Amino acid sequence: MHTASLLPALPILASHGARILQSNDDGGAELYIRSFNDALNKAGHDVVLSAPAENKSGTGEFTHAPFSSPGRIYSRSSADSIDLEPEPRTDSCEYNSCPANSGPIGTNKTNTRLNWVNSFPVTSARYGIDIFGPLIWDGEGPELVVSGPNVGSNLWVQVPFSGTAGVAVYASHAAQIPGIAFSAASGGWLALKHISRSARSLVYAQLATQLTNAILASGKSHDVETCGGTRLPTETSVLRGGGCRIAVSVGESRYKTTAAADKQAVVLKKLGSMLTCV
Ligand SMILES: *[C@@H]1O[C@H](CO)[C@@H](O)[C@H](O)[C@H]1NC(C)=O
Ligand SMILES: *[C@@H]1O[C@H](CO)[C@@H](O)[C@H](O)[C@H]1NC(C)=O
Repeated sequence: MHTASLLPALPILASHGARILQSNDDGGAELYIRSFNDALNKAGHDVVLSAPAENKSGTGEFTHAPFSSPGRIYSRSSADSIDLEPEPRTDSCEYNSCPANSGPIGTNKTNTRLNWVNSFPVTSARYGIDIFGPLIWDGEGPELVVSGPNVGSNLWVQVPFSGTAGVAVYASHAAQIPGIAFSAASGGWLALKHISRSARSLVYAQLATQLTNAILASGKSHDVETCGGTRLPTETSVLRGGGCRIAVSVGESRYKTTAAADKQAVVLKKLGSMLTCV
């Protein structure tokens, strides 16, 4: 199995079950992503799936954009994968996983952690990061985005076209959330209904989960040490705490993300006397 890991700033990741957003380019009812979903859940993670409504394999590159309607292209930053607002579906989703005329996005009624988006891989990841995930996680976003396992390898010249890789690039670059793309060389698309009968999908799911766990366990980085801990409260938790409170956040200007502990320490030294523990 081939793995492309994009871990820019290694932010704070929980060693307990992590909030993980899953996507792919083969479609959310494809067996590999569902077996991986099972394995991540069994490993105790807090998983939300948001994937394309149908097979979008090989559509990662911007050249697939229908340029006749450029006004509909949503772009959050320079990530060069196509990201297009979803349009209502007329036919059923991949492998009949949703009925015809189900709208532009949808959620499984009996398991609201399973969602589809009628658009491209990066769009489905963006909906998961911004909308479906926070609905489940009490307003929080994912700590990690995983993509795939792709049906088939993504080697060298294939990578720019890979929606699987595009999702991890989008997550880590545009959304500033660590992303990992998995690709599984043994190919052949298979529907979700084969879930317990495909040895290869179970093996890939296990391998991808072990690797995910190892990264989560080793990739932890800490905030500045203060108030007896190495985890600062989030702005959301400070504001939700009620009362008349303000939060001071130290940002990394290049990425609009949280600055590393040494930079937090500089600001804490200057302002610490004005702040209290919560
Ligand atoms: C998915 O799309 C790829 C690329 O177009 C194609 O080769 C493959 O056969 C499709 N898989 C299914 C199950 O339709
Ligand atoms: C919807 O969720 C149920 C319960 O988890 C599951 O058994 C079923 O396979 C899901 N259906 C689809 C199409 O995802």
